[in-house]
Amino acid sequence: MALSFDILTIFPGMFAGVVGESIVARAIKTGLVQVRFTDLRDFTHDRHRSVDDRPYGGGPGMLFKPGPVFEAVESVLAECRAPPVSTRRVILTPQGRRLSQRDLREWSRASWMVLICGHYEGFDERILSGLSAQGFEEVSLGDYVLSGGEVPAMAILDGVVRLLPGALGHPDSAQLESFEANLLDYPQYTRPAEFRGMQVPEVLLSGNHQQIEKWRREQSLKRTEERRQDLLESPGMEKRCVPGCPSQERAQVKEPCYGNHQ
Ligand code: ADE
Repeated sequence: MALSFDILTIFPGMFAGVVGESIVARAIKTGLVQVRFTDLRDFTHDRHRSVDDRPYGGGPGMLFKPGPVFEAVESVLAECRAPPVSTRRVILTPQGRRLSQRDLREWSRASWMVLICGHYEGFDERILSGLSAQGFEEVSLGDYVLSGGEVPAMAILDGVVRLLPGALGHPDSAQLESFEANLLDYPQYTRPAEFRGMQVPEVLLSGNHQQIEKWRREQSLKRTEERRQDLLESPGMEKRCVPGCPSQERAQVKEPCYGNHQ
């Protein structure tokens, strides 16, 4: 079943690149995904098509007014005659829960996603509380402020679409990469075997698949331990030493618990 995206924004033109090139474009062409844009300005009723206004109490910047956002959401939701249960509703804000690979994986199983992009200083709070009551959750791309929710929405679109079965060239590609097991990717190499004096690790040229697997796993753990200790602390990771892992000398590392080891 195709996954449909409804993206509500005042800048639909910003998405031309992401829907026009690469994996998302191909997924649209092959019918794996549909992407529809709703311009929030189409739901304004004044001459200037204004979607924003100054904050009560003063302060810098402008806020999205409730009217156009609620009307746009109602219009989008009304168009789906029988709302499927697997609908995901997201408002992009820097105050939201931080986006994770787990979210993308879960959303890739949905049949309909509605994404609302803010701009300016943010939303009138009644938009957030009112839409939360309708199942929308606030999601942030990360702990930094962008000029709007469009780039985060593109990240979600790209990250979800590439997980759809058939979207990537190789079916395993999306399983074997960073964050899928809460670990960073292992180092990879392609030809030539030597470049400017830098060698490809011997084991990768050995043809011994068991050794290669073992090496890759060790490298993933080593990298994760060196760069992203926080991933090893996350739920679902269990303390366990892996032969050859350099961290054995210091402390035990954690790795995902698959439930079949002591
Ligand atoms: N809008 C502005 N900054 C954002 C962020 N970091 N995540 C989601 N939406 C945003």
